[in-house]
Amino acid sequence: MTEIEQQPITLLALAGSLREASYNRRLVRLAAELAPEGVNVVDYTDLRTVEPFDEDVEGTGATPGADAFRAAVRAADGVLIVTPEYNGSIPGALKNALDWASRADSEPRNDLQSSPMYGKPVAVASVSTGQFGAVWARDELLKSLRTQGARAVVEPSVTVPNAATAFQDDGSLANAELQQKLVELVTALGSTARAVRDALARIAAEA
Ligand SMILES: Cc1cc2nc3c(=O)[nH]c(=O)nc-3n(C[C@H](O)[C@H](O)[C@H](O)COP(=O)(O)O)c2cc1C
Repeated sequence: MTEIEQQPITLLALAGSLREASYNRRLVRLAAELAPEGVNVVDYTDLRTVEPFDEDVEGTGATPGADAFRAAVRAADGVLIVTPEYNGSIPGALKNALDWASRADSEPRNDLQSSPMYGKPVAVASVSTGQFGAVWARDELLKSLRTQGARAVVEPSVTVPNAATAFQDDGSLANAELQQKLVELVTALGSTARAVRDALARIAAEA
């Protein structure tokens, strides 16, 4: 094994909700706890600092929150997004941050392949207080991520309904089968992220 291959995988975790007691952030914490050995799930807590997307200020240095977010995505081996559903879609703050991450560092900014999100292994889970577990938000988010050229890991589907009763006091999910799916999703994302990272390292070494 090369030195790179021995290094742990870093998954940047985004909770689509900004509120303190967010159920979605609870699922992020659970994913971090249950992640397999060699996979570190890092909770990104600065989504609220990402400025509203505006083409006029791209690359000017006037958006430190967006710049930090873009750098965090670029540095991560993969991205795990856990989102609520707002009015049948994904929260604006999350969409805003992802729009920033879909842009290139320099002109032409719409060169998707030069963006932090392009080719990035991503997976989506969702939590809602309703009975459908934010499935629309999950679908919309996956559509947007595919449009950005991210490498979506879609199985198994982890959608947590009835959030108010879904979590136990210790932070685990009352539904053991659903919790097992969460472990499988994080494991699958970790494996894809590892495969992509190692392939890129090999290509770089051969160049
Ligand atoms: C503006 C807004 C819109 C919402 N729309 C939906 C919705 O379309 N579908 C749904 O299942 N829940 C909806 N909810 C309820 C959320 O599932 C619930 O507030 C959930 O707890 C949000 O996630 P969080 O706990 O991580 O903050 C909405 C909540 C808000 C605040």
